[in-house]
Amino acid sequence: MNVFVADKFESAGLDALKSAGFEVAYTPGLSGDELARSVEASKADVLIVRSTRVPANVIDKAPNLRLIVRAGSGVDTIDVPAATRRGVRVCNCPGQNSVAVAELTLGLMIALDRRIVDETEDLRQRVWNKKEYSKARGLKGRALGIVGLGRIGIEVAKRAAAFEMKLLYVDIVPRPDLEKSLGLRHVGMHELLRESDFITLHVPGGPKTHHLIGREELSLMKPTAFILNCSRGGIIDEQAMSEAVKAGRLGGAALDVYEVEPGASETEFRDPVVLTPRVYGTHHVGASTEQAQLAVAEETVRIVKAFHDEGQYLNCVNP
Ligand code: MLT
Repeated sequence: MNVFVADKFESAGLDALKSAGFEVAYTPGLSGDELARSVEASKADVLIVRSTRVPANVIDKAPNLRLIVRAGSGVDTIDVPAATRRGVRVCNCPGQNSVAVAELTLGLMIALDRRIVDETEDLRQRVWNKKEYSKARGLKGRALGIVGLGRIGIEVAKRAAAFEMKLLYVDIVPRPDLEKSLGLRHVGMHELLRESDFITLHVPGGPKTHHLIGREELSLMKPTAFILNCSRGGIIDEQAMSEAVKAGRLGGAALDVYEVEPGASETEFRDPVVLTPRVYGTHHVGASTEQAQLAVAEETVRIVKAFHDEGQYLNCVNP
C-alpha cells in the first residue's frame, strides 16, 4: 500500500509505517498543483497531512486514493465534501493534542495578565519599569468563559479550576456531569461575554463559526477582559478585535491562529493584527509539543493500519 506523507511527521511514525510494510513517500512542503501531481504520481492509497491544504483537485487527480488522515484534530484544511463525492474517507486524530493546546491557552492567559511579552521587550530595550508592570489583576476568582466545551475546552477548564477561577461555558451540548466536578456554569453567549474576565475559544473552524466573535460580541465584553483564540483563525473578526484593543474597549488578546495562515512552516507573515499593542501571538503551535506530536503520530499509524488490515476507518469525519 502506498502512503504519501505531505507534512512534517514524527520519525517514529514514519518508521512505524515503513515497518508495517507500506511504501512511504515523505514529501513535506508541497502545495497546489505540485502536491496534486506528486500524489498522483505516487499512486497513493493514503494521504497524511497536517497543515497542507487538500483541495478537490488533489483528491480528484489521485485515482487510487481511499483515505486521507489529518494528523491533528481539525479537518477544515481538507475538502471533505469533495472527498466524500469521490468515496475517499477522511479520518482525524481528535483528543491527542488537547492537553498541549490547553497548556498554551493557560500560558497565554498568564502572559496577558502579567504582560510578560511587553516586559520582556522592555528589558531587551534595557528599560526597567517595575511601576508599570505591577498592575496585573491576577487569575484567582476571575471569570473564565470557555466557548466550546469539547476535549480541549475540558482540559482548559481542569487547569483553570486549579487556578481557582470561576468557570462559565457555552456549548450546544451542556455537560451537567462536569459542571459539578469542575465548578462550571452553563450560560448563554451574551452572559458569558458580559461576565468573563478571560474568554477562550475552543470550537471548530468553518462557515458556522466564522466571525462568531465580531464587533457586536466584542462590544459586550468588559473593557478589562482578554480574549484568546487557540482554535481556528476567522472565529474572531481580527480587525474589529484589533480596533477594540487599540480603543481601550478590550484589555487585550492572544492568538495562536489567524484569519489567513501561511501553508509553509517557515515564511514571511504579514497579518497586521500582530502589530497591535496588547495582542500577543504565537505561530499556530498549540498542538506542537513533543508529547502531543508523538501521540498524533501513533494515532495516525493506528488509523492507517486499521484501514489496511481490517478495512476499518477510525475517527471518520465524512457525513
Ligand atoms: C489541530 O487541528 O489539531 C491543530 O491545529 C494541529 C496543527 O497544529 O496543525
